[in-house]
Order: sequence, then C-alpha cells, then structure tokens
Amino acid sequence: MQRLTMIYVVNIILLNGDRVLTSDVETPKNILFILIDDLRHLSDKKVYLPNINFLGKTGATFNNAFAQQALCAPSRNSLLTGRRPDSLRLYDFYSYWRDRSNGQGNFTTIPQFFKEHGYDTYSVGKVFHPGKSSNFTDDYPYSWSEYPYHPPTEMYKDAKVCRNKKTKKLERNLICPVSVKRQPGQSLPDLQSLDYAIDFLKKRNGSKPFFLAIGFHKPHIPLKFPKEYLKQMPISKVHRPKEPNIPKDMPLVSWHPWTDVRKRDDIRRLNITFPFGVMPTKWTLKIRQSYYAAALYIDELIGILLSYVDMQKTIIVLTSDHGWSLGENGLWAKYSNFDYALKVPLIFKSPKLIPTVVHEPVELIDIFPTLVDLTKLSDEIPKCLNHKDTSQLCFEGKSLVPFIENNSNGLEAFAISQCPRPSVYPQKNSDKPRLKDITIMGYSIRTKRYRYTEWISFNNTLFTKNWNNNYGIELYDHIIDPIESKNLFLVSKYKNIAKVLSIRLRSSVYVIV
Ligand SMILES: *[C@@H]1O[C@H](CO)[C@@H](O)[C@H](O)[C@H]1NC(C)=O
Ligand SMILES: *[C@@H]1O[C@H](CO)[C@@H](O)[C@H](O)[C@H]1NC(C)=O
Ligand SMILES: *[C@@H]1O[C@H](CO)[C@@H](O)[C@H](O)[C@H]1NC(C)=O
Ligand SMILES: *[C@@H]1O[C@H](CO)[C@@H](O)[C@H](O)[C@H]1NC(C)=O
Ligand SMILES: *[C@@H]1O[C@H](CO)[C@@H](O)[C@H](O)[C@H]1NC(C)=O
Ligand SMILES: *[C@@H]1O[C@H](CO)[C@@H](O)[C@H](O)[C@H]1NC(C)=O
Repeated sequence: MQRLTMIYVVNIILLNGDRVLTSDVETPKNILFILIDDLRHLSDKKVYLPNINFLGKTGATFNNAFAQQALCAPSRNSLLTGRRPDSLRLYDFYSYWRDRSNGQGNFTTIPQFFKEHGYDTYSVGKVFHPGKSSNFTDDYPYSWSEYPYHPPTEMYKDAKVCRNKKTKKLERNLICPVSVKRQPGQSLPDLQSLDYAIDFLKKRNGSKPFFLAIGFHKPHIPLKFPKEYLKQMPISKVHRPKEPNIPKDMPLVSWHPWTDVRKRDDIRRLNITFPFGVMPTKWTLKIRQSYYAAALYIDELIGILLSYVDMQKTIIVLTSDHGWSLGENGLWAKYSNFDYALKVPLIFKSPKLIPTVVHEPVELIDIFPTLVDLTKLSDEIPKCLNHKDTSQLCFEGKSLVPFIENNSNGLEAFAISQCPRPSVYPQKNSDKPRLKDITIMGYSIRTKRYRYTEWISFNNTLFTKNWNNNYGIELYDHIIDPIESKNLFLVSKYKNIAKVLSIRLRSSVYVIV
C-alpha cells in the first residue's frame, strides 16, 4: 500500500505540478475488527443492543450471516483465512493450518494480508483461538506486527469466583454476575482489553495505517459480567423459547448434549438427565437473562470503544465467531447446524458507505474478500479451485461489496456450514469430538428460505465423505418455521425442493461457486 500511495502522489505531482495538496491523496483507511465470542444474532426486540444497533444503522448490516462451523477455533481460523474448515482440516482445537507438510496449508490470514500491504497489525484479547490451533502464539509473527495482547485477568477466566447466594461459597457457575471490585485483579478481561485498545487509539501516531483486531470474551460461558447489567435485563422481560423441547422429527445425530453447560456447578446440581433432559423453565429464564446481560455488557464496551474511533479514517467490521442456542428445541450452546448456533451479527462500516440492510444469506468467509475490496488493495486475488487448493492466497468466499452498494443484481447467495459428530447417539464428546473420533459430518445449506442438512459418514484420516451413507436429513422452511423445529424432509410437498437443495449442497462442498 505504501507503494500504491507513492505512485498516486507521483502522478498528482506530474499532473498538477506545484499545486499538489496532500489532502488530495487518498490515504488508506485504518481497520478496526471487532470479534465477539459466542454472540448470536439477536433478533428478539426485547433484547436490544443499543451500540451495536447504532453501528449497524450507520453501516451495512447483514441480517443473515452464518458461521462455517459453530465452534470457536474452526470458525475463527476459517473466517481469518477465508477458507472453509474442510480446507483447513480443522474441526476441533488441535491442529495449526501452517503445519501441514510442504506448506500445503500455509494460508494467508486477513491481518497477515494487511501486514504485507503496509499496515501495522495488532491483536487485543481473543482474536485467534488460543492454543495449538494458532501455534500458541495467535499466529504471531505471520499475522501481527507486535506480540498479541492478552488481558492479565484472563488467567481467572474459569476460576471459582461466582458466589453461591445460599452457602456464600465461591463456585464455577454458569450464571455468574460479579462485583468487579471483588474480582481477582479488580477487573475483568474485556474491561482490560477495552482499556488497552483505547490507549492504543489515543496514542497511535504511526505513519502507517493500522489494523486493530479486538476480541471480546463475553457472552461466552461462564456468564460472568458486572452485576449491574442484570438490572437492565429484568427477568420479567425474558421469555421462554417458543419450542423448549426436542422436536419429534429431529434426527438423533442432530442433537448435541451441551456438556459444557451441564457441567458448571449450578447446572450440575439440577441433575438433568444425560443426554436428553430438558432445562427446568426457571433456569431457562435465568440463563437467558444472564446471556442477554452479558451481551449488554459487551455492547456497552463497544460503544465506549467506538467513541475513540476516527470514523472518517476507519473501516469497521463487527461480527462473532458463531451463535448460541438458548434452550430452543431443547438445545443449549453451539455445536449444531441450526440457525441459533450459526447465525451471527455482521456489520461493515466505512466512511463513504451508505447505510443499508442486507437480507441475503452470507458467510463469515466473505469477510476477507470484502475487506480487500473495500480497501481496494488488490483486485487480483483468485477464487480457490476447491477445498484442496493449496494456494497461500485465494478466496473461498466472495466480496459483499455488491450487496453493500446495492448492486448485487439479484445475485443469489447461500451459506454452507458443517458440524462434526463422533456417533449418531449423543455421547459425552458429541459437542466437540476430536478429529480422531469424528465419523460423521453434517453439511448444511442455508438459502433465504430454507435450511437443508445432510449428516453423512466422514473418514478422519483421508478427509473423505460418503454421501450415500446417510445418518439424518433435515429441511426447515423459514417462512413457516423460523425456529427450525419442524423437519419437513419427509413431507411430500417438499420433495422437489429437498432434491434441489441436496444437489446444491453436495456440489458446493466440493467446488467453489
Ligand atoms: C508460509 O508463509 C509464510 C508467510 O508468507 C512464509 O514466511 C513461510 O516461509 C511459509 N512457510 C512454508 C513452509 O511455506
Ligand atoms: C510453531 O511453533 C513452534 C514452537 O514454537 C515453532 O518451532 C514452529 O516454527 C511454529 N510454526 C510456524 C509455522 O511458525
Ligand atoms: C507524532 O510523532 C511525531 C514524530 O515521531 C511527532 O513529531 C509528533 O508530535 C507526534 N504527534 C502526536 C500527536 O503525538
Ligand atoms: C440431585 O441429586 C442429588 C443427589 O442424588 C440430590 O441430593 C439433589 O437434591 C438433586 N437435586 C435436584 C434439584 O433434584
Ligand atoms: C436498491 O436497488 C433497488 C433496485 O436496483 C431499488 O429498488 C432499491 O430502492 C435500492 N435500495 C436502496 C436502499 O437504495
Ligand atoms: C478411512 O479410510 C482408510 C483407507 O481406506 C481406512 O483404512 C480407514 O479405516 C478409514 N477410516 C474410517 C474411520 O472409516
């Protein structure tokens, strides 16, 4: 980019001689990338996130954006490289894409691309999933100019800090409103990340543009947040999901037992039977209340952060790694192929952009090409051929700029997601099976109207799949069933559409369209 700017300056000098004004030169925009952990797309009018909503009103809001897999590490690596989990071969937490032999998986990340195009790039909080899947370094130095910042209080993220009202003992609860002053370190990770980012924005005085990624930890469980936010979300405003029980036509393989929720101290005491027990209503409401309160907390921090951003010089992207079921169809947490687990907020804001709302289904792998398009840093990055394409830089997603600029000309988009299982019958590791235990992969396509899913056998050493070995098929019609509780696959009226979607799904899993 430095080079691009220089050429531009030289051209202006040649054309205008001495009359060059530096303001004529279009300087590259800074980028602020806001990544929230486990924040589902909140469409409930009662749960209004004012700051995220305001950002959306001033930018391009995608109302149907879907993660590629409802699990942190696979989703983050996928969106940050713009490649699908099948291309990264990551469906769990335990491999790093650059480690594949002969550099076959050495894919370029979004921050790496900007770093290689003249930006200083910084990571604050949880951007890459920490650990093996980002080589214990958040992909430093490839992606970042400086070693990523992690808030010191992150070390207490799973500590016993939630007070049991009855016994006064400290526990590892799911529901965990806290007094910040009484927390170890007198703070919380997201508060510290916010301070760090504000400090960066205030002091930034570099000649290069910057790419700042900030990853907020909440509303990921435990639902630990400053207790003041509970007041903003009184339990009287919280509703049960429309369908709190397991729908009768849901295939067994599609159910997951939300083990991480049931193992928290407060939930464990409820003795909910494994794997199909339903959360008691009182607790359903309490968990929903705390999830919303934790979301309000993050929303407020984002509002504060945005007040320090120079909107004329900054492109902002806001999204989340995946959604979270809040008791709908008896399910909790992520780990599924349903809208509640896959659908996320997605907002782009750029200085010249006219506010718009897009309803077309889009994917998180679309973020990378969209940012490259918005910054006009390159128009030469090819489409990947398929998930076996080992090019360091190719796109599996598409630029969303035609949607943002309202000239998509009826371009019909859809989203593909996937979810691994170790078995048909739900077992302890069904939520997050390790690669060696994965025997089934659920592939799902979401069009504007339908969600269609096939669960097929998967070979975890060859990464092959067999579409003839079917463990469950689902079809949901969002016009009549937005909560995906009526599986219509066996309804004769839907036979033809199921056939069409199956063909589209199968071909999309192999070929990039
Ligand atoms: C992977 O890509 C990085 C960044 O372009 C490069 O420095 C490194 O040498 C590559 N590694 C392999 C094994 O190709
Ligand atoms: C991953 O980390 C290990 C251990 O620090 C290091 O030896 C290796 O080079 C790293 N991988 C890459 C691709 O940088
Ligand atoms: C930015 O840095 C330059 C040189 O390092 C210095 O001259 C200038 O005063 C600084 N500006 C601000 C606002 O700190
Ligand atoms: C759960 O089981 C334990 C041990 O059997 C029992 O003491 C407790 O009362 C049960 N809790 C509920 C909510 O049923
Ligand atoms: C988008 O374009 C269509 C036709 O191309 C037009 O009818 C519609 O009003 C436009 N929407 C906005 C928000 O500009
Ligand atoms: C995967 O394929 C290989 C080679 O055909 C075979 O040896 C292995 O048993 C298969 N794995 C599974 C889980 O079916």
